[in-house]
This record gives sequence, C-alpha cells and structure tokens, in this order.
Amino acid sequence: MNHITIDGRTVPAGEGATILQAARAAGIEIPTLCHLEGFEAGASCMVCAVKLKHSGQFIPSCASRVVDGMEVESASEEVRAARRMALELLFSDHLGDCLSPCQRICPAQLTIPAVLEHLRHGRTGEAAGVIRRDLALPGVLCRVCHRPCESGCRRGTRDEPVAIAGLVLHAIDTERAAGPPRTPPAAPARGGRVAIVGSGFTGLSAAWFLARQGHRAVVFESADRPGGSIRRDHPDVAAEVLDAEIDRIGSAGVEFRCGEPVDAPPELLDGFDAVLVATGPGGVPPEVGKESMMLAGAPGVFAAGRVLRPKGKPVQSVADGKAVASCIDQHLRGRPVRRPPKPFSVFMGRLLEGEMDEFLLESSRAPRGEPADIDHAIAESRRCVLCHCAKADSCRLRQLAVDHGVNPNRFSSGERLRYSRNIEHPLVRFEPAKCIRCGNCIRVAGDHAETLGLTFIGRGFDVHLGVPFHGRLSDALRVAAGEAVAACPTGALTLREPEES
Ligand code: SF4
Ligand code: SF4
Ligand code: SF4
Ligand code: FES
Repeated sequence: MNHITIDGRTVPAGEGATILQAARAAGIEIPTLCHLEGFEAGASCMVCAVKLKHSGQFIPSCASRVVDGMEVESASEEVRAARRMALELLFSDHLGDCLSPCQRICPAQLTIPAVLEHLRHGRTGEAAGVIRRDLALPGVLCRVCHRPCESGCRRGTRDEPVAIAGLVLHAIDTERAAGPPRTPPAAPARGGRVAIVGSGFTGLSAAWFLARQGHRAVVFESADRPGGSIRRDHPDVAAEVLDAEIDRIGSAGVEFRCGEPVDAPPELLDGFDAVLVATGPGGVPPEVGKESMMLAGAPGVFAAGRVLRPKGKPVQSVADGKAVASCIDQHLRGRPVRRPPKPFSVFMGRLLEGEMDEFLLESSRAPRGEPADIDHAIAESRRCVLCHCAKADSCRLRQLAVDHGVNPNRFSSGERLRYSRNIEHPLVRFEPAKCIRCGNCIRVAGDHAETLGLTFIGRGFDVHLGVPFHGRLSDALRVAAGEAVAACPTGALTLREPEES
C-alpha cells in the first residue's frame, strides 16, 4: 500500500491508483470535467489539477498515478486559480447561451423554454407547474406586463417574437378553468412567522414564495380585501382572475388580515420573526441594504417593491417579492443574507449571418398566432427556436464556472466561433461550438462497438468532433446515443424530444 499526502493529510492509495482515486477514497473532493468513470483518462481539461509540492508542477489528478510519499496540494487558492484559468481557456473556445435571451430578460426569471417545451407537447398542466414554481400571480402579471421577454425573443429577429405572455396565460387560464386550486405540496414547515404589510404585487409574491419555502406568512391589508393596489391600478383585469390567484396563494397557507389598522413594522416584530414592508409608493422611501434588502438599523425588517422604486413595473415588483422572500428565508435560517445573484450564463450576442437558419431547423415556420386554444398553443410554442442550452441545469462546465467564480470572457479574442446545429440524428442534437473536445462520446461509442462511431478530425486548433468517412450522426450513434449524451459534460450533445405531429 502506498501513501500520499493531500493538503497535509496522509491517505492510503492502492497500487496503480490515480491521485484522483486516492483523494476520492479518502473523501477529498477534486473537481473533474473531462474525466469519465471507468474509462482511461483523456486528461484534456486540467480542471482536476493538483500541485506537486516538491516541484511546484501542476498535474492532472485524473491521469497521474500515485507515487509513494508524494505530497500534493488540492485546495489552495493557487490550485483554484489554476483550475479557474483552465475553465476560462475552455470558455474562450466555446459558444452558446446557457439561458435563453427571453429568460435572461424576464426580471422574474421565468424559465420560459421549459414552459414552451411542455406546451409543444400539449402538457398544459406541467407548463402551469413550471410557471407557478417561478412566478407569483402569473394569471394577472402576464396580462398587465410590458413583456420584455417578447422584446428580447430571438425569433423576433426573423419575423415576430413568440407569443410568450399569451402562452403563459393559456396554461394558467386552462388551470383555472379546471377548478379550484388544490393545495400544492407543502415544503417542510420551517416555522418562521413573517408579517407582510401590503398586498400588491410585491407583498403577494413574497407571501407565495415564503409559503413555498415552508414559512407562515400573514398579509396585512388596510382595504377590506387583498390585492388593493392591483385592483386600483389595473381595473381592466377581471376580478375573478385576481381572486383566483389570491385563492391559490391562500391555499398555499398564507393568511390574510384585511381592513384592520396595522402596527408600525418594528412593533410587528413582537409577534413575528420578520416583517416585510411592501406598502407601495408614498412618502420617503426607507433606507435598505442593497444586498440584504433589510432596513438600516432594524434587523428582521425588510422592504421591497414600489415603496423603494415608485415607478417600478409589475414584473419588477413580482421579482422584488421573490428576491426579498429569499432574503427573509436566509435571515430566518440564521444565514448571511444576500439577494440571489443573477444565474450564470454565457452569451452568444448578436447572431452572424446565416446563424438564424441553424436555430430555425427545429421550429415551425408559421407566422405568429395568438394561442386561443390548445392546438394554437402547441403551434405557437413550436415557433420557439430553442435558444437556451438544453443541459443548462446539468452542464459540468457551467457548474464549475459558478463554483470557481469564472469570467467566461477573460480570454476572449474578439472573434467568435460560428454557431451550427446538427439534427441528423432523430434523438440527438449536436452543437459543435459547445464541444470542449474531451473525447468522452468517442470513448462511449467505441465501448458500445458502434460500427462507425465518432472521432476527432483535423489538427491543432482546428481539431473537431466528427463522424469518420463523412458519415452522418445517425449512423455514428446507432446504439449508444443516450450514453453518449449522458457522457458529454456540456450541452454539445443533448437529447431531442420527438414531436408528435
Ligand atoms: S454547454 Fe454549458 S456552459 Fe455552454 S451554453 Fe450550455 S450550459 Fe452554458
Ligand atoms: S425563440 Fe424561444 S427560447 Fe428563444 S428567445 Fe424566443 S421564446 Fe425564448
Ligand atoms: S461532444 Fe463529445 S467531445 Fe464534445 S464535449 Fe461532448 S462528449 Fe466531449
Ligand atoms: S484533465 Fe482530469 S478531469 Fe479533465
């Protein structure tokens, strides 16, 4: 048995083990990207780098065998910086959008591609589920919203944007027509009691998300029913639509106390663990911490929405309610309070000539139509050109970028790759510009004895993944398509969901 010292800790290592294997056996976490369990290491990414103490050299732990008495560093700031640089170099030769333009521009961060994906397949209930996970009051909000998502929709650069708000409303109105709300699965009760003063967009949004996080929210409204400022500012929204949304928030466990005088926020803290001031515009805005959304000098008292920015749009107020709910949740759990950061995404920017045709490969060419019924909703959602990365939630490159505080543009040369999309395979989408040339798909195809398989073509900087003999992807991955997609650490290979026609 050999022994190796990792970050000052001596651990055993079997004969022929790699440093990565020895570390993992001892419970020491070393990040990997191109490493594929059970296969010979390709060692192309250097994200698993460790530093040899005696020589100061950085080596890939996935491909380096243990030598008895070896001493390595795996957790120092210097090693992290080396890994960060390895990731930043990969990003300099990578092109894509983790999140679609429509989602990035929506202040409330609705996962629009997931909603449209469900609607393309007629799964209205699932679409409504995604919407309610991300948004409070969607049935009202998407009626009154100024729709920045549609202004940013990539399809609009070709003809007209996808009717995103109409599609959201189709899912939500269908849900309402199906009957009274069923109580959504409750998060485990966390026991925090939160007083929310004001029942406009911000207050109701915060109440919804706090209830979903397992807290007891009590909403105080000076008018005789909740939703006061929404009713006043948006008389065109039918009362039954707003009432249905408020019922749903109530069914999640939120209590409403209307038409009673409300104590000043600091006094309310006597009966509650936190207070949110969401009273809307009027008077001098309170001073709050930019990161914590908490009132200066009043721990536990938060403020959000139009009380701070009187001219805020409804979607901004709903987003503020969601953000402050997260801050309150952190406060109630005794954690440092930080407004949730924007999710990490790389950007393609403006498309080059011809690239839009690649995006259009998987979408309907029909003109925009309002989704008045399920058939129209399916047809309209098929106009979406799928701008997001289908692996945004599982991409290792993205996860590691977040963990290491990566700047994806650090080594950008100004010139960018060209975007293309290969859909020759009925089940697989290949986006070459997202490939980090790890070779995992090649190894998996070989392991499955694919007749044609995959290979690297070209040399040096021009090397790229391809099918030998100018073959098609559908011939290269006859049996190993699912495994190859799973082995791909980025969104270069993703699964396509066949559309029923
Ligand atoms: S491959 Fe990963 S990093 Fe690249 S666009 Fe997709 S999610 Fe983002
Ligand atoms: S085409 Fe689809 S994914 Fe792209 S911005 Fe428009 S709605 Fe979003
Ligand atoms: S397509 Fe193949 S070579 Fe490229 S990143 Fe995915 S698994 Fe690696
Ligand atoms: S070089 Fe080890 S994980 Fe990529």
